[in-house]
Amino acid sequence: MQIIKLPKQLTEKIIALKIKGRRIGFVPTMGYLHKGHMSLVRKAGKECDVVVVSIFVNPTQFGPKEDLDRYPRNLKRDSKMLAKEKVDYLFFPTADAIYPKGFRDFVNPGPLARELCGAKRPGHFRGVATVVKRLFKIVPADAAYFGQKDFQQARVIQEMTKHFQIPVKIRICPIVREKDGLAMSSRNVYLSKRNRIRAKAVSASLRLASKLIKQGIRNPSQIKSAMMKLLKLNTDKIDYVAIVDSRRLKALKHLKNEVLIAVACFVGRTRLIDNLLIRV
Ligand code: PAJ
Repeated sequence: MQIIKLPKQLTEKIIALKIKGRRIGFVPTMGYLHKGHMSLVRKAGKECDVVVVSIFVNPTQFGPKEDLDRYPRNLKRDSKMLAKEKVDYLFFPTADAIYPKGFRDFVNPGPLARELCGAKRPGHFRGVATVVKRLFKIVPADAAYFGQKDFQQARVIQEMTKHFQIPVKIRICPIVREKDGLAMSSRNVYLSKRNRIRAKAVSASLRLASKLIKQGIRNPSQIKSAMMKLLKLNTDKIDYVAIVDSRRLKALKHLKNEVLIAVACFVGRTRLIDNLLIRV
């Protein structure tokens, strides 16, 4: 595995490999890797000849009161983890390389970015769409791998690539969880011992929703209020509990087709998100 810092150097290598007919898989991350990230890396390895992973804590997707400065970082540990897998290039750019002086190529992330987390984190998806578009230019991959954990993000990126006609296939991979159901996240390290236990309520609320749907309940308000009840007991602030259609992310009055049930809430100061896709 080669670690590359300079965009131009990586682009040249990728283009040369593409000319040779190699299929390129790309996994963008912000590092502090866990099994969720590694599942994307393995999927890319299975489907592609060359795997590129990027680690870049993207400043433009963090709000002014968010955790950019304390976001966990550990390049040594991350690169050790990646070197054990089939990874060819680790791209670790500086902020200046991604956002050169005078940078103004910000992306309008489109209507999906107004829903769910977008309503609670203004500018977040603008930052995500902007950096991913930059990264896709540097790494002209055939396929890019994203986690369902951030389902809205993956959908925003799908729409962004469609809008700009970027020829990359966006693959959305299943959520990897801890034994007790908590979705893996780099941010889980922020949780105190007590809050780590309380955080189980987030995935438990989704399992409850799934159970109610299996029992035949189709009224979203009824499902949401059962979930809220559980969440209120164990979390400190609920940002949203939403039941939406998985394409447009718009609230549903009656459950049908593919439904996304999504939760965002704070346990202590840590914001946790989780979701469930369910075909009704
Ligand atoms: P990051 O939070 O590091 O996540 C990188 C990728 O790993 C994302 O596609 C995310 O959905 C996926 N992922 C995280 N936890 C997961 C889990 N438990 N199971 C499966 N996949 C999981 O998401 C970002 O970084 C950034 O916003 C980025 C896309 C890199 C742009 O800066």
